Amino acid sequence: MKNIVCIGAGYVGGPTMAMIAAKCPDYRITCVDINRQRIEAWQSGEPPIYEPGLRDLVAQALGRNLFFSSEVEAAIEQADIVFVSVNTPTKGFGEGAGMAADLQYWERTARQILTHSDRPKIVVEKSTVPVRTADAMARILNSNPDNIRFQVLSNPEFLAEGTAVSDLENPDRVLIGGDLESPAGRAAVEELVKIYTHWVPREKILTTDVWSSEMSKLAANAFLAQRISSINSITAFAEATGADISAISRAIGMDSRIGSRFLQASVGFGGSCFKKDVLNLVYMCRHYGLHEVADYWQGVVSINHYQNRRFVRRMIAAMFNTVVEKKVAVFGFAFKAHTGDTRESPAIGVCQSLCEERARLTVTDPEALPNARIDLAGLQERVEFEPDPYRAAAGAHAIAILTEWPQFKELDYRKIFAAMEKPAFVFDGRNLLDHRKLFEIGFNVYPLGKSALTHI
Ligand code: UDX
Ligand code: ADP
Repeated sequence: MKNIVCIGAGYVGGPTMAMIAAKCPDYRITCVDINRQRIEAWQSGEPPIYEPGLRDLVAQALGRNLFFSSEVEAAIEQADIVFVSVNTPTKGFGEGAGMAADLQYWERTARQILTHSDRPKIVVEKSTVPVRTADAMARILNSNPDNIRFQVLSNPEFLAEGTAVSDLENPDRVLIGGDLESPAGRAAVEELVKIYTHWVPREKILTTDVWSSEMSKLAANAFLAQRISSINSITAFAEATGADISAISRAIGMDSRIGSRFLQASVGFGGSCFKKDVLNLVYMCRHYGLHEVADYWQGVVSINHYQNRRFVRRMIAAMFNTVVEKKVAVFGFAFKAHTGDTRESPAIGVCQSLCEERARLTVTDPEALPNARIDLAGLQERVEFEPDPYRAAAGAHAIAILTEWPQFKELDYRKIFAAMEKPAFVFDGRNLLDHRKLFEIGFNVYPLGKSALTHI
């Protein structure tokens, strides 16, 4: 039985290893993390992250061939294949601050693998890291005096939160980058291919060189983010000119060359990947003197920021140019539905801006309140948290829909309206609700990329 170890049991490492363990009973998988609390949660069978279907997936293999541990070094010693799935946040200091990836955790992991290996291993890079870091990893690992050779592969993760289990089970493709020029490199790539062919059709498994694989991940996220900024830029134009963004999205999306997905207008994209990856791309383009290319991709992030600010400006303008001491019910804080994750959530910026304008907020979200409390800790005086949306909206002047949780569609808005201050406003940052119906109930409704429906 081969031993797989995954360093980092977060949103990527945990679900990915649970899927491999469930599909490959002939491998023994240990997922390690320096965060003991996270490990204890995984060990108990209650994953530390909310992800539909994950609990059942973990249960299939936990204690059989899936193990979680905080003993990072002991696990590395046992491993034949090491997946690296630690976080690579944006650097907050020094050269490249706010743009480049902070590789300290990642390099520490490389050195840890080196120190605790007495035989060759395959190292698989799963974290999103800027292109050419697998090369840096290979150089660190192969610098050992004992001449132990490591093969470093890139195997980027394309799963999206909220659909991680189905994305892992039925991926559009699996991408593996390795040194295809050498027999040892090709053998390492084949080792990884062998794991995935337990459940993924062979024709969906692409193999390429390491650089192209790493860059494909950055480019894929940049393209997806760019689609959202593109449609969001058109919402501003549609509002200014009286067009309807839903009609536009539908018409654009039916062009088979464009496709219908990722054209949902929003208050902005969030999540741990998009902004980080686009900024990384921008940073590297600048490094190579490709300023026009860097400016192009920078525009994707700038429009995202603009959309967030624009949403708040529209709220303030609609509410008679002041929200001082007005209560706003924030419906949804997660960066998207079906997750409790709030990293880079557009709700953070909206809440901060509203607090700067001295509004009072009550935030409700089915899964993200624990993270919301942490994100808004600095604004305690102005923010309350309330799991029940009816209570959150009671006495409010406005509701801001910031996450597209389907349960928000099912609420009784007559009841909500009756308990709100008048005039009552809904600002739908996800175009989630039935705007005409809300208007008929009495709300002043501000969708995205459509004319407002107002009584005043
Ligand atoms: C993304 C990529 O999709 C995934 O392949 C990669 O591995 C990690 O980054 P994730 O961040 O989990 O996944 O979520 P995703 O579904 O891509 O949504 C990202 C953000 O874009 C969310 O805030 C979402 O609400 C927003 N979004 C998405 C829109 O505003 N409109 C859309 O049409 C689609
Ligand atoms: P992602 O979304 O990329 O999975 P997360 O932050 O959810 O990001 O997960 C990364 C995990 O990696 C965290 O749980 C963190 O504690 C863990 N981690 C970071 N550095 C190390 C390290 N040197 N050894 C083990 N685990 C680490």
